[in-house]
Amino acid sequence: MRMAIVYDSSTGKTKAAAEQMGEAARAAGHECSVESIHDADPAQVTTADAVCVGSWTKGLFVIRQHPTPATIDFIERLGPLDGKPAAVFTTYDLAIGKTLEKMATPLAARGAKVTGEFKSKGPHAAEDFDAWLRTLGT
Ligand SMILES: Cc1cc2nc3c(=O)[nH]c(=O)nc-3n(C[C@H](O)[C@H](O)[C@H](O)COP(=O)(O)O)c2cc1C
Repeated sequence: MRMAIVYDSSTGKTKAAAEQMGEAARAAGHECSVESIHDADPAQVTTADAVCVGSWTKGLFVIRQHPTPATIDFIERLGPLDGKPAAVFTTYDLAIGKTLEKMATPLAARGAKVTGEFKSKGPHAAEDFDAWLRTLGT
């Protein structure tokens, strides 16, 4: 499968998590690009067979958490995803609130089938990401 992972990262943790996810995807036999949403082309990402979108958690630590507005803006610039599998991910320090849901909802609105939601405290992929990769087939 051809996968695209895009992320928004301020201090590098979400970038590191995305890169680890990309390595895991390649180890599972997929082709996989990993790019910042600030560099990625939404039209190009739309052509992938599976899409992962991630943001760091921004908020007041225990309330009002959300993905970055740039992440939502990127999702809204994607073309129709026509039932393609998708995942959302975030890195955080304390609590993510509805950060994942706030990315999953607009992705689903573009037609993606959001089957994975991952959070990690720190610069690494979530432990259950490999299990999600296995749901994709080859
Ligand atoms: C302005 C600001 C707001 C943040 N708000 C939250 C929050 O509401 N909840 C939380 O768990 N972490 C919060 N964090 C921590 C970051 O989400 C966390 O350190 C994340 O892993 C940073 O990812 P990055 O290195 O990719 O930028 C906040 C950090 C900053 C700078």
